[in-house]
Amino acid sequence: MFESKAGILFIAGIGFFALAFVSNALVPVLMYRDLPEQTAEEVVNPKLLYQVKELSWRFPVAFEEHVGAPDEDDDAAWKETAASLLRLGRQVYIGEGCWHCHSQFVRPVSNESKRWGPVSKTEEYENELQRPVMFGTRRVGPDLSREGGRRSSDWHAVHFFNPEWVSPDSPMPRYTWLFDGSPQRPNKRGLALIAYIQWLGSWLDSYPYYEELDVLREQDF
Ligand code: HEC
Repeated sequence: MFESKAGILFIAGIGFFALAFVSNALVPVLMYRDLPEQTAEEVVNPKLLYQVKELSWRFPVAFEEHVGAPDEDDDAAWKETAASLLRLGRQVYIGEGCWHCHSQFVRPVSNESKRWGPVSKTEEYENELQRPVMFGTRRVGPDLSREGGRRSSDWHAVHFFNPEWVSPDSPMPRYTWLFDGSPQRPNKRGLALIAYIQWLGSWLDSYPYYEELDVLREQDF
């Protein structure tokens, strides 16, 4: 068997498969398994908290009905609310196949940082919401890893309801089932998806903050 061509190819096939498994799976797992991994609660920061509270002011009826009405000053309750929205939002992002068309990875090539912001770093992916990572492989639409704070939440609501209303000729599908009827009434999954999108990049200094967010919001319309 070992003298025949088929035998050599067979053994080499198994050998290279095993080598690839060791170098691409086993070695990385052994190298990184002790690194701390943040939970959804731990990645909730003041910028995201602001965005989530802002969702409750912008969509008061929908928010109260689907998410609840935490006390304005109860930071712990807001943090919990934000973390659960992030978890659900990520599931919606996966379930709706957003990752088919959007990447979450700014590469250090082709001047990508000029278009989307700072090149992605490893530590950005060391959290529960990146298991498995949402790098994506296609870019029918723009990279979303720095999308948070770039647009207002009602822009996202209208855009998810009917992308062509804000972006003429957009090939992005409509996601009307994330709403109870109109863009003013996102349902729980819709609110969670908006929170998740507003979270993206909120860990970076480049994320617009409070007053800047208000300015951006005015510019959108
Ligand atoms: C068929 C491919 C496709 C799918 C699926 C898709 N998108 Fe898009 N998306 C696009 C394209 C193309 C654009 C750019 C045109 C536009 O703004 O609509 C875009 C734009 C966006 C933008 C605006 C980016 C910006 O600031 O200009 C966001 C946010 C977004 N998509 C989120 C999502 C989410 C969340 C989902 C899943 C619910 C999704 N997309 C599914 C193709 C897609």
